[in-house]
Amino acid sequence: MNVLNEKDRVLIFDTTLRDGEQSPGATMTHDEKLEIAELLDGMGVDIIEAGFPIASEGDFGAVNEIAKRTKNAVVCGLARAQMGDIDRCWEALKCARQPRIHTFIGTSPLHRAIPNLTQEEMADRIHDTVSHARNLCENVQWSPMDATRTEWEYLKRVCEIAIRAGASTINIPDTVGYTAPEESAHLIARLIEDVEGGSDVVWATHCHNDLGMATANALAAVGAGARQIECTINGLGERAGNTALEEVVMALKVRSDIMPFSTAIDTTKIMHVSRRVSTVSGFPVQMNKAIVGKNAFAHESGIHQDGMLKNSETFEIMQPEDVGLSGTSLPLGKHSGRAALRSKLAELGCDIGDNQLKDVFVRFKELADRKKEIFDDDIIALISATGDASVDRLQIVSLRVICGTGGPAEAMLEMDVDGAELSATATGDGPVDATFKAVRRLHSNSATLQLYQVNAVTEGTDAQATVSVRLEEDGVIATGQSANTDTVVASAQAYVSALNRLLLRREKFGPGMDAREITYKEWN
Ligand code: KIV
Ligand code: ZN
Repeated sequence: MNVLNEKDRVLIFDTTLRDGEQSPGATMTHDEKLEIAELLDGMGVDIIEAGFPIASEGDFGAVNEIAKRTKNAVVCGLARAQMGDIDRCWEALKCARQPRIHTFIGTSPLHRAIPNLTQEEMADRIHDTVSHARNLCENVQWSPMDATRTEWEYLKRVCEIAIRAGASTINIPDTVGYTAPEESAHLIARLIEDVEGGSDVVWATHCHNDLGMATANALAAVGAGARQIECTINGLGERAGNTALEEVVMALKVRSDIMPFSTAIDTTKIMHVSRRVSTVSGFPVQMNKAIVGKNAFAHESGIHQDGMLKNSETFEIMQPEDVGLSGTSLPLGKHSGRAALRSKLAELGCDIGDNQLKDVFVRFKELADRKKEIFDDDIIALISATGDASVDRLQIVSLRVICGTGGPAEAMLEMDVDGAELSATATGDGPVDATFKAVRRLHSNSATLQLYQVNAVTEGTDAQATVSVRLEEDGVIATGQSANTDTVVASAQAYVSALNRLLLRREKFGPGMDAREITYKEWN
């Protein structure tokens, strides 16, 4: 057994709400961001990067509210190397119990060329902005963006400048997912060794997954002395995403024999947080994704099942319970009552209030009328469906669809639109196309469909389908999800739910207002 001490403790810096949310289409609403921040705090994340306050009013508001509410974690905001960014970031954060300003600038030759700064000019900018941040906030993190493609001498020099100016955490981003494990380890070891003041700061690793090496690169950096891992739930993030929190945390736990480091994460909360992030971001988790994929603990083949029954360690290196999956899945049925549902939800890590329980119970009973056995995944799908009858302006009243081989599909839809009951018929290329057209007849809109995805929740022909729909209109993106044993009904509900969310955002922010105002070109 390994005896761990403080120097073996690895800080988990979660950037789901900043780098994750930056991923095109993963935009979350204000309330969703607050919910995810609370879950991250509750699972033991050390630092929550809550957003990029200068990017939009929406980002500022979310960072500010998370700063006010977070009980345990350090709350961090991102700022470019500009005084205005840093001031705005501090304005959003200063009410936090433990605030941190994270400021960055692209230091590689390609990134230096964007603001057209010489090495000297950039060095001065780093000194001035880190000093300014440090005058406002005691806890300052600095990042040389694209560090893994920055010349060694220059990287060493700018890290020294940031440390002298008062940064206490230096983060080394592999912004484009270019490095490899050995190189990642070598770079961190050399920085700790050669940078003046390098042994007085925390070194962080921030990896992207373009070559599928983000987890390996982060763990290699820890082996070489990094003590903060920057990561996101489900690996959410731009392009191929970031290091996945659940992967590094479980790797450190399961292989503590060769990686003797500890984190403060309560791993039994992982599954629930993963599902919530997937739902609110509209990014489904790949079936065979490590740790949180639907198949990660499924043993289908005969030889595996036989081995598992004799001894679960034959094919399992961790227990499903370790990540919050209940080992036994006793199905509920139509005679199960509210108490049974509540206890199942608690077992699944879903802590919901009485009002939401009432709503989920109604939907559970409807489902039980159509489906003999209701499994854990069915319950999770019910919980994940988006929509709130008290604020939704569009509500489906009834839907009938005729489809088959004899001609185009026809959908007959009745919908409540702002309190008026309207009906429309439309034909289309298949039942879903006809249904979406009927919705548009009753609520004309110019939203384009960015994603339409169907998954079967459990096995059998009476399985529920979960449908995710992502829409974009005037730069505003909204997702809707629904689950039903009828795929066409689930599709209609998910589509209408996404439209309701678009309407809500427009009412709150006006057209295009929560779209990002800072584009990649303006990063420096
Ligand atoms: O990938 C990156 O370089 C970043 C920085 C802003 C830290 O996300
Ligand atoms: Zn990043």
